[in-house]
Amino acid sequence: MAVREVLQVGDDLLRKTSKEVKVFDEKLEDIIDDMWETMYAFNGMGLAGPQVGILKRIVVMDVNNMRLELVNPVILKSEGVDIEEEGCLSCGKIRGKVKRPMKVTVKAQDRYGYEFTITGEKYLARCLCHEIDHLNGVLFIDKTIK
Ligand code: NI
Repeated sequence: MAVREVLQVGDDLLRKTSKEVKVFDEKLEDIIDDMWETMYAFNGMGLAGPQVGILKRIVVMDVNNMRLELVNPVILKSEGVDIEEEGCLSCGKIRGKVKRPMKVTVKAQDRYGYEFTITGEKYLARCLCHEIDHLNGVLFIDKTIK
């Protein structure tokens, strides 16, 4: 495992759309393990592939003491509205309020390709949306409200 460099805002890779993961192999596991190590090394709560220069639809998150690995996550349903402050390992010390759904249901695959769904509210819903945005080249600073 290795701590990878976290790309910072201004880097073009952060603005690209990540590709679906189709092969679930050891290489994927190595990437996911590196993402965990990198996220914890920088005290993050979530990290998406593009943030470490990997344009694949992979997210790791540690929210409410729950470790989640999401490969090819898709939002199936979102409800309500919640406005809270966010930050991002790719945006330095910038923080800002972002409007997100209060509750989302997400479908994803684990590192072995098995599909699961997760429903999260409030902070978990926010993190899921924030990380999935990364896979589409969107940063929270694009969405902050004054
Ligand atoms: Ni982020």
